[in-house]
Amino acid sequence: MATRVLVVDDDLNIQRVLVFALKQEGYEVTVAADGAAGVEMALDAKPDLILMDVAMPKLDGYAATQQIRAAEKGVGRIPIIMLTSEADVEQRVRGLRAGADDDIVKPFHPLELMARIKALLAQAGGPAVAKAGAEAPTLGKLCLFYPAKGGVGTTTIAINTAIALAREVKRRTLLIDANLQFGDLRVFLDLGLDTPSLVSAISEPDLDLDLFRTMMVSHRSGIDLLLAPPTPAAADIVVERQRAAPAVLSNMLSLSRRLYDYTLIDMSQAIDDVNLQLFDEADVIYVVMTADLSCLKNVPLVLDTMDSLGYEKSKVQLVLNRSNAYTGINVSNAESALGRKIDYQVINEYRGAISALNSGEPFMSSRADAPLSKSVLAFAKAIDKALAVEAVPARA
Ligand SMILES: Nc1ncnc2c1ncn2[C@@H]1O[C@H](COP(=O)(O)OP(=O)(O)O)[C@@H](O)[C@H]1O
Ligand SMILES: [Mg+2]
Repeated sequence: MATRVLVVDDDLNIQRVLVFALKQEGYEVTVAADGAAGVEMALDAKPDLILMDVAMPKLDGYAATQQIRAAEKGVGRIPIIMLTSEADVEQRVRGLRAGADDDIVKPFHPLELMARIKALLAQAGGPAVAKAGAEAPTLGKLCLFYPAKGGVGTTTIAINTAIALAREVKRRTLLIDANLQFGDLRVFLDLGLDTPSLVSAISEPDLDLDLFRTMMVSHRSGIDLLLAPPTPAAADIVVERQRAAPAVLSNMLSLSRRLYDYTLIDMSQAIDDVNLQLFDEADVIYVVMTADLSCLKNVPLVLDTMDSLGYEKSKVQLVLNRSNAYTGINVSNAESALGRKIDYQVINEYRGAISALNSGEPFMSSRADAPLSKSVLAFAKAIDKALAVEAVPARA
């Protein structure tokens, strides 16, 4: 049976162009000339996908999308692509809020539209889902490392925890660098600028398990990596794609959960759209802090934000790095200032951390017996114990 697409647009020329292009690709096409008719036909005929214009008589594209979403009540969700007239961020965000899955700015090239359509249809239950059945089951946990401020050791902990999980706990582990503009993993792990990055994963409209596998860099330490964009300018591509189609990032993360026991993400401190989506999707958020006044000021702000997002208390955990460094504030001072307990601690060992950093070889690989490595290993084992409750046993 042909895939059925409903075009909702009042402009005769656009209708003609779309019908022609879609039919050439083998789609079955129906047309509604205003928003109200669009809602009716969508709910009656349940097409496989809807192309929805924004500015239309009777009911505009936002309202029509909202009505369709309300009527669906979350079941049998039909993918909707908004046809917007301006690359205006506010307009695009409004479309996504109304319940659209993607948008495309007029005038667009038919080839781009076709690529977007295919991507959305694939996510809505296409090949990626079908192939998953053949995979060995994974724990599929998504863990974020989020800094209370820059420089507290978030990247150091994320990398070495990932290596400990892979080597010592025998879990399949992926580390993603989501410091989009200034990711450090390339230098920390001694990799070149030409290695693939998040940009390739997020720009690929037909991302499925097989394709996603080809994008990961496998590192000699035993972990797989998905690096940050090579330049700050390339970071914009990721930001733009996430804004236009959050579903693409969701899809990528769910593929990652299928392939790995643990997906760890090294984050930046920003509270922006990308990070908010990561917060939402995560199983646990490890907030990395040190015992100093600026962290003691920031951590309550972070906890309040998480609270207002409606997360369970247990989703947000505090990791005190350099816990035994002399700062004049000890662990119990910090806990009473925060009014909650600190969940995990990693010790301070400046020389070990810095020499590993400058040699491009993480201490967990190069000096597994050092006190700092043992401290991070204890952290990795503790989080695995907490997260792997319903788990498949680790590989032998
Ligand atoms: N537990 C630790 N003991 C000593 N030095 C540390 C520790 N953790 C991190 N560092 C050092 O702190 C600096 C900042 O670490 P980094 O991981 O880049 O922080 P962030 O990602 O939060 O900006 C680095 O020089 C690193 O070697
Ligand atoms: Mg960092």
